[in-house]
Amino acid sequence: MALPTFEVPTPTAMRRSMGRLTAGVCVVTADDAVSGSCGMTISSMTSISLDPAILLVSLTHGSRTTDAVDTAGRFAVSILSARQEAIARRFATRGGARFEGFDCDTGDNGLPLIKDALAQIECDVHSAHDIGDHRVFYGSVTNLRCREGTGLAFYSGRFGDFHDFGHDQVPWLF
Ligand SMILES: Cc1cc2nc3c(=O)[nH]c(=O)nc-3n(C[C@H](O)[C@H](O)[C@H](O)COP(=O)(O)O)c2cc1C
Repeated sequence: MALPTFEVPTPTAMRRSMGRLTAGVCVVTADDAVSGSCGMTISSMTSISLDPAILLVSLTHGSRTTDAVDTAGRFAVSILSARQEAIARRFATRGGARFEGFDCDTGDNGLPLIKDALAQIECDVHSAHDIGDHRVFYGSVTNLRCREGTGLAFYSGRFGDFHDFGHDQVPWLF
């Protein structure tokens, strides 16, 4: 089969090709000094350093959550399980009252954490950079915990799961 021709990286083309990377799904939460809790669904969370423990999240400009992380200097990340697709949708839907009638855990730093998430991670902002239409926050991890479960995946605009662990008999230890 002939390969498609290369195209210029318009936002649509970027979204389409980047969407071919199967990604885990998280909710980043923060505290807005004026209106309280805020949060959004992300797939951009990446582990950067183990010692010291640092991760990054890339948040779009113009989001309340982005501003709240900037102002408060801290945020939390909950890694969603395959049973939490509805939560991913809730926190990605514009204009919704995301915390109304929604029960959360509370972290040591007081931020809301998604109940039953596979991991809950609290961070202080280490540094932040504007890159294109996003603001990248590096977070120094202050606290974290995790549990067993199947991860929620996002591929090509659809949710799925990482249920099929593939062909390795034992997990990679690296
Ligand atoms: C699976 C998935 C992953 C997403 N990843 C990101 C991301 O990494 N960064 C980001 O800024 N928005 C991401 N979004 C989009 C935001 O969740 C969405 O725009 C949300 O409405 C933003 O919050 P706001 O409405 O409060 O601005 C993602 C959405 C989905 C469904």
